Amino acid sequence: MTVYKNALMRNCSQLKDILVKDGKIAKIADSGTISSENSEKIDLNGRLVCEPYCDPHIHLDYVFTAASFGENSTGTLFDGIASWSDSKSTLTPEIIKERAKKGLLEQLLGGTQYIRTHVDVTDPKLTGLKAMLELREEVKDYADIQIVAFPQEGMYSYKGGEELVEEALKMGADCVGAIPHFEYTAEMGTRSVKKAVELAVKYNKLVDVHCDETDDDMSRFVEVLAYEAMDNGIGEKTTASHTCAMGSYNNAYAFKLFKLLKRSGISFISCPTENIHLQGRYDNYPKRRGLTRVKEMLDDNINVCFAQDSICDPWYPLGNGNLMYVLDAGFHICHLTAPQYMNRALDLITSNGAKTLHLGDSYYLREGNPASFIVIDAKNDFDALRNRAQVLMSVRNGKLLFRKEAPSFGEESLSGYFKMQ
Ligand code: FE2
Repeated sequence: MTVYKNALMRNCSQLKDILVKDGKIAKIADSGTISSENSEKIDLNGRLVCEPYCDPHIHLDYVFTAASFGENSTGTLFDGIASWSDSKSTLTPEIIKERAKKGLLEQLLGGTQYIRTHVDVTDPKLTGLKAMLELREEVKDYADIQIVAFPQEGMYSYKGGEELVEEALKMGADCVGAIPHFEYTAEMGTRSVKKAVELAVKYNKLVDVHCDETDDDMSRFVEVLAYEAMDNGIGEKTTASHTCAMGSYNNAYAFKLFKLLKRSGISFISCPTENIHLQGRYDNYPKRRGLTRVKEMLDDNINVCFAQDSICDPWYPLGNGNLMYVLDAGFHICHLTAPQYMNRALDLITSNGAKTLHLGDSYYLREGNPASFIVIDAKNDFDALRNRAQVLMSVRNGKLLFRKEAPSFGEESLSGYFKMQ
């Protein structure tokens, strides 16, 4: 048994103690009211405790390929795909798994425990999928990984793409993917979205479509996805990733679209660091930001969350798996710097991501649930966002994954002059 003492939980002014027994949260009570005799005691000193971060969109089969694959000199999505396509045959499951483990470790050290990774299945050997299926099993004590059968080069533009997606689902992928804006024609794009929903229903899987990841305001596959998901009764199991074109839609169309999006119940994922980098590349000035309408979705109670997407791959040369940096970028780019957003900032990398991943009630920090949580070096959401606060501790099913010391920032030597407490 372990008692985590003096925990500051989100939206709760009184410190709490958390009793962990047999991997579960046995009790949460006011600080000092849980007997800690015969228990290990860990004093959290009033630091913020919350559910682990969720990264609902990453490509673990691509991580750390930027240096060895051809340079994406234009910085566009399409040249990223071309670079990947030219070089991916050189990879083996062993190489992919080794790099993915390195990327996953960075994610874990940033406080993430729930991950959805898209795996390129436009490969007759399904090399990446085999690597990810092994990895998902090997790391289950550290992270929950969902795998998306993602046809990077198109479900129809790549010969046999549809069959490879279906094969990946049979082999154990959790979600159906698609990339309609990359297909050769709009008709093929629409067909790919309909097929993704059809396969999800057939195999009882989730759906996550790379949807309208372009500044082209005529890319409108999100309406097809929302309608098909709603019509098939799987809105809550469906996600539209990116939807960058929504940042370029005219307001009259967006107004009509939002009614459908809300009714459909689908979730949205925005990848702020990656899409501010990839989009706007065909603009001179003014340059578009290329992100979806995150603020408007939050205002309309449409579920939206942030994700990392890339760690050093042909699409984005940076990224380190730390969602706090992604959150920071997203808040700036999406104009979320008003109190009503900042005071709930962590929702975008915790509960909203959990809803997208369809994790259910067991995700939450409640008595009887698995003891999986993180400790953040902050007092509240605003403080965490402003300071890009570090995750000091990560606990999963009652086991301590890691513990870091909080930085002192030289407070002792400065305290005399600045009268720090
Ligand atoms: Fe992606």
